[in-house]
Amino acid sequence: MICGNISVALCLYRHNYYKSIGYFGVTEYLAPFRFNHILKAWSRNNLSEQGVVYHKLHMTIDVEHANNWFNHVIEPVVDRNPENIIDITKGVVYRLNSSKDT
Ligand SMILES: [Fe+2]
Repeated sequence: MICGNISVALCLYRHNYYKSIGYFGVTEYLAPFRFNHILKAWSRNNLSEQGVVYHKLHMTIDVEHANNWFNHVIEPVVDRNPENIIDITKGVVYRLNSSKDT
């Protein structure tokens, strides 16, 4: 819930752009790790195979998403102005803390 609320809050205002690209980059980066844990619980609880397919697919796809996000979104923004890394890092920390607290 916290993660979703922060996601929306960052997207609502342009001044949060740099924080949001850090936030969403980490979201993609963490997906394979998080989904691996989800799949263990999924199996333990005998949930549908449809969900297994979805999560396994995203464990692969999101590695590519994260790499592309870092290379084609974050890197150009930092190259343009290295001070942007301050807000990008704040977004990263927001996302890491939202995972820690839920
Ligand atoms: Fe993704």
